Amino acid sequence: MTSPPFALVRKKDYGNVEAAEYIEWFKPFASAFKRVLKDRGSLVIDIGGVWNRGYPTRNLYHFKLLIMLCEEFGFHLAQDFYWWNPSKLPTPAEWVTVRRVRVKDAINTVWWLSKTPWPKASNRRVLQPYSDSMKELLVKGYRAKKRPSGHDISKKFSVDNGAAIPPNLIATPNTESNSFYLRYCEEKGLKPHPARFPADLPEYFIRMLTDTGDLVVDPFAGSCVTGEVCERLSRHWTCIELIEEYCEAALGRFKRDPQGASRSTSKPDDPSNSYKIPRPGLFWNGTEDIPLSEDGGQKRSTSQ
Ligand SMILES: C[S@@+](CC[C@H](N)C(=O)[O-])C[C@H]1O[C@@H](n2cnc3c(N)ncnc32)[C@H](O)[C@@H]1O
Repeated sequence: MTSPPFALVRKKDYGNVEAAEYIEWFKPFASAFKRVLKDRGSLVIDIGGVWNRGYPTRNLYHFKLLIMLCEEFGFHLAQDFYWWNPSKLPTPAEWVTVRRVRVKDAINTVWWLSKTPWPKASNRRVLQPYSDSMKELLVKGYRAKKRPSGHDISKKFSVDNGAAIPPNLIATPNTESNSFYLRYCEEKGLKPHPARFPADLPEYFIRMLTDTGDLVVDPFAGSCVTGEVCERLSRHWTCIELIEEYCEAALGRFKRDPQGASRSTSKPDDPSNSYKIPRPGLFWNGTEDIPLSEDGGQKRSTSQ
């Protein structure tokens, strides 16, 4: 379970490499992952996309990484997931808030890979509450019929199983602001890791893909969120991190009762935990007052 440094068009202060070199840089890691992974084990990689320098276009490096892992190293793509972080800022400002020619990029891809087509897994471990419309359907009943798509919706569809099978979209914010980890960093004068993932993310995959007592490895561990989640879930774990200061800070995660440490700030039973995206078109009223700029926004508009 890992989140490697993303490729960057501007270098950050830890081992990020340029998008063009990324695939070559990753190869030795890929072969080590293949070597140590159990046949029924999984390799889960959270990786964000980047913009091409100077252009409002997206780099393809994370897709190339996926293809390389499957085609050159023989991994199987068990499933592609998308982590939606509703708290992401609308960047790069130039394309999103200034020229207004792109929208907010709020998704990281999460590649769930495996060594065989049959990694151990159960979606029963990651069930989620029914949506309001599904609850209503369960009360009112559903008339079994064929959908226009040809799918046969049988009577089984209206059986209340107590919870829903989640989609491959994981909605969780990255808004840790008051955790023990951050307070520990502040106390010790250590720099908190600048690109932590929320504990919900590794927790989801660790629950779904491993059993108590299994070994989870995070080779790009950063602040060691993965290790902390494993403590809580009674999995063995190994975290590897290049920068010593991040390791020193990560120690703070284990100097107290790990129960519930650094979970995202919204509470698990808080109904606002389930995010809703408004249907596109709610604001469309038929008028498109300002014509689209013919140059695709290449020149900054002076009219706004
Ligand atoms: C995106 S961050 C991981 C953040 C982590 N998931 C968390 O929540 O704190 C990637 C990390 O990989 C580390 N890294 C880069 N190259 C590495 C290498 N060759 N071996 C181990 N760690 C490395 C970086 O220092 C950085 O902390």
